Amino acid sequence: MNVLLVNGSPHANGCTYTALAEVAKVLNAEGIDTQIFQIGTKPLAGCIACRTCSTIRRCVFSDCVNDFLDLAKDADGFIFGSPVHYATASGAITSFMDRVFFADLLTGKQSFYLKPAAAIVSARRGGTTGTTATFDQLNKYFTISEMPVISSRYWKVHGTTPEDVKKDLEGLQTMRVLARNMAWFLKCKEAGIKADVPFPEREETILY
Ligand SMILES: Cc1cc2nc3c(=O)[nH]c(=O)nc-3n(C[C@H](O)[C@H](O)[C@H](O)COP(=O)(O)O)c2cc1C
Repeated sequence: MNVLLVNGSPHANGCTYTALAEVAKVLNAEGIDTQIFQIGTKPLAGCIACRTCSTIRRCVFSDCVNDFLDLAKDADGFIFGSPVHYATASGAITSFMDRVFFADLLTGKQSFYLKPAAAIVSARRGGTTGTTATFDQLNKYFTISEMPVISSRYWKVHGTTPEDVKKDLEGLQTMRVLARNMAWFLKCKEAGIKADVPFPEREETILY
């Protein structure tokens, strides 16, 4: 089993990464492979609503969105991490997730269907400045894609540097609890499939 962890920060080794690395460490200890996927710092266009993905079966822009979609189909679970930028998710991860989830929907690949997902957030301060809005924003992609959402006891770390995050013991514990809950769910799902528990009956989508 493997989990893809997305770093939506421009800092490859910053606060969000430090939180994701804590999740990955515990997932690995649970016998689950991990890969931290960096969105990076290159310009990332938003979705231009061209719908070309429905015919070419990938996003019209060749960048990390298509790289991620190639990996996503074989992943068993997902963690998306974002720094808080002006009280919402980073612009990069917003563009990234808009295009990832729209391309997946229009190509019909269903790379996310019934795969567990979780969001984590990194902010400068210990309060909730923007963390709840960011967390809500990221969770919408999961709940529109039939992804079971894995929770912890909170959803954030705080700091400006990785060293700050390493001192945020509550935040790091939140990441470890999340990892164990994700691992437990993945093992239950695997056991359910082995026991021939059928996947849910599916209905044609009704769009108004
Ligand atoms: C453009 C920008 C806007 C930010 N806005 C907020 C904010 O609204 N609230 C907050 O708590 N931190 C804010 N921050 C701070 C970062 O969210 C915080 O330092 C985060 O932990 C950095 O994570 P990273 O090292 O993974 O990028 C902002 C940072 C930047 C660069």
